[in-house]
Amino acid sequence: MKNFKLYYTICILAGTLLVMSCQSNTKKPSFVADQNFNKDWLFQKDTIVGAENSSFDDSGWRKLNVPHDWAIEGPFSNVHNARNGGLPIDGIAWYRKHFTIDEAHQNKQISVEFDGVMDNATVYINGKFVGERHYGYIGFECDLTSHIKFGEDNVIAVKLAPEVLSERWYPGAGIYRNVRLKINNALHIPQWGTFVTTPTVTDRQATVSIKTKIKNARNALAKATLETIIIDPNGTIVASASEAITVEKTTENEVTQNIEIDNPLKWGIYEPNLYSATSQIKVGGVIVDEYKTEFGIRTIHFNKEKGFILNGKPVEFNGVCMHHDLGPLGAAVNYRATERQMQMMKDMGVNALRTSHNPPSTEMLQVCDRLGIVVIDEAFDEWKIAKVPNGYHKYFDKWHEKDLRDMIKRDRNHPSVVMWSIGNEILEQSKKDGWKLAKHLNDICHDEDDSRPTTAGFNYYPASFENKLAYQVDVVGVNYKPSFYGEIRSQNPDMIYYGSETSSQTSSRGVYHLPLEYKHRKETFQVSSHDETTGPKWAYPPDVEFDAQEQNPTSLGEFIWTGFDYLGEPTPYGGRDNSTNGYWNDDWPSRSSYFAPVDLCGFPKDRYYLYQSQWITEPMVHVLPHWNWKEGMIIPVYSYTNCEEVELFVNGKSFGKKVKGKDFTMIHAEYNGFEKGMYKSKYRLSWNVPFEKGNIKVVGYIGGKEVTTKEIKTAGKPAKIKLNADRIDINADGVDLSFVTVRIEDKDGNLCPEASNLVNFNVEGEGTLTAVGNGNAASLEAFQENYRKAFSGQCLAIVKATENAGTIKVTATSNGLESDVISIISK
Ligand code: GAL
Repeated sequence: MKNFKLYYTICILAGTLLVMSCQSNTKKPSFVADQNFNKDWLFQKDTIVGAENSSFDDSGWRKLNVPHDWAIEGPFSNVHNARNGGLPIDGIAWYRKHFTIDEAHQNKQISVEFDGVMDNATVYINGKFVGERHYGYIGFECDLTSHIKFGEDNVIAVKLAPEVLSERWYPGAGIYRNVRLKINNALHIPQWGTFVTTPTVTDRQATVSIKTKIKNARNALAKATLETIIIDPNGTIVASASEAITVEKTTENEVTQNIEIDNPLKWGIYEPNLYSATSQIKVGGVIVDEYKTEFGIRTIHFNKEKGFILNGKPVEFNGVCMHHDLGPLGAAVNYRATERQMQMMKDMGVNALRTSHNPPSTEMLQVCDRLGIVVIDEAFDEWKIAKVPNGYHKYFDKWHEKDLRDMIKRDRNHPSVVMWSIGNEILEQSKKDGWKLAKHLNDICHDEDDSRPTTAGFNYYPASFENKLAYQVDVVGVNYKPSFYGEIRSQNPDMIYYGSETSSQTSSRGVYHLPLEYKHRKETFQVSSHDETTGPKWAYPPDVEFDAQEQNPTSLGEFIWTGFDYLGEPTPYGGRDNSTNGYWNDDWPSRSSYFAPVDLCGFPKDRYYLYQSQWITEPMVHVLPHWNWKEGMIIPVYSYTNCEEVELFVNGKSFGKKVKGKDFTMIHAEYNGFEKGMYKSKYRLSWNVPFEKGNIKVVGYIGGKEVTTKEIKTAGKPAKIKLNADRIDINADGVDLSFVTVRIEDKDGNLCPEASNLVNFNVEGEGTLTAVGNGNAASLEAFQENYRKAFSGQCLAIVKATENAGTIKVTATSNGLESDVISIISK
């Protein structure tokens, strides 16, 4: 372990800033080839003997491009575990790819780099074993050099053996992240070969320190020059450095260059200024390798009084935990789908992400770098003790050190990453000696990167404090313990802590059960969106956490469970069977989560606006429920706002103003650590209103002035379909997406809140329909069909560009409804 703890403590005591900088690495495809290796794979899901051999007959195999997730293709079935999404995530499967390498590359170093294979991957080239990896969330590279047949057909074969209940959620299955073929000169910068920090940063100057690894694969000493060029966020070269290097035969050298940057543009929340460093290795003036690293210049500091400090200013975490799947697209990584998720989170007021409970895709970190969202990068959900029968515990001894070191090497250059999490709710928390493993993992993190603190999410309180496990990490994450923040702080005055997982409220978009209910209804498989229905016994409404954060300003903030709904873990439906340590499927067809303020398709639930009311400053007001009820029925109407007052009108008649902070709503909140009964929420304004057909409107006031309104009208019968694309200009690159929202409307354009009409899609031109969905966590319709039933009046069609520029025409039709057509331009 490096002396992080000491350095860190000194920083805190002296009140100085812990200065950091980061980057993300990509090998530049233009020079020595880093080829996209995603296309034209062959796939077969079966136990096959001899499929690693070049001569194996794969002529009947399915041709596809990766990233690919076979499990999302379904079908949903309760033969599969609902905790894993009720999808076929397990079994043996093979991928093969034929390729040729020109004889001109005879002296090159050739390797294949996988960003992630889910999971238990074994890689062969021309029948020879070249690598294996259990953990699907981490990337790895296999050296192919000595097995390549130049100018002839080569076959790379990947065997996968994922297991059921390897996770408590849906992991996906397949070569689900990107693949690259690398052809390098013998003298080159290897995988994850740069590490950028900024040891000093002021407004006037920053020192950029770049450690660059140079590998010499040849059996002779190499002399060369390392040149590093720094490019600012506007694309201007602002500094450079050059250093003569000597690398002994078949070894690796590390060179440190310190480069001064004047008037640095800092990276910050919503100010994503990114620099890049281009590292060139030159021999006799000729460039033999080039490597590009994106990085940011920023300072971070964690302080027990002021919390998290970014570039000298305290920032409270308005955070979300997120699993890695992309809803109807499954786990197969896609940049645009990831960006859309995080843009929606940002619009909710989110400034922080916890990558629960595994290393994220590189694309997710790129998105966070570019949007200005800070990240807790989490390694594990299990150590040595099992949560699920085939979890990481089976592989921990063999793989944990490599997986953890690789995660840090891969991610330490992203400016968004501010903490390393060594685990979530690991069961060693209750063990006397559990702290030893925590210390071991903590030391690995600091050995790889002494510029960021470590953390973990603890749910056993006080057990994990009593056995000293929590004291092994630098910053303590507490899961679902809002009532104990005060006690934690008073008993541990030097502790830096935050809510690493909060709320776990469940609800279904657009579903309202009246009279208000506090227990979820088993027969509907839906949870009411008044957001006071109890879920798991540790769950509580968001209001409780808002309050706890306000009462405990020394907390760094919170990370809600979760930002987006995800596949699997359909709590509160589906129970736990302790006899098998597995989960039963009694509540089938529930197959995905109900936890998030946004459903699986990316449609906001009412809770999205409750978070906005706390986390954004632009005036907003929201009202619920919908306005289609029986005449005279008494409707509990809730409004969420960041305004001072809200006035409610029904058909123009005022039901009075309510004042934020003065008027309260009694909501049900029953959870571990909270006295049973009603909770007095100052975060919701409410009225009980007799239903009258027409419209309901809320008006938000600040300083007595009307600043914002929201109105819902009683909808008539479903009459037409309305399509709205999130982007009508997309890239003709074969991967870009347009998300088309489908609304079922009455003749006047009002959303029909309970419509479930079946919608058929037809996509023509330079695009394909890649998935459909509706956010119903209990729907067993396949995501790949060209039809979908609406759920609470809406569904989604996801359209993917081909590689040809042109127009994409999307038509949606439904029996008895006026159809709609939109055009998307792909360039
Ligand atoms: C937590 C756990 C999460 C998720 C959540 C659901 O205890 O860390 O992964 O299962 O509960 O409420």
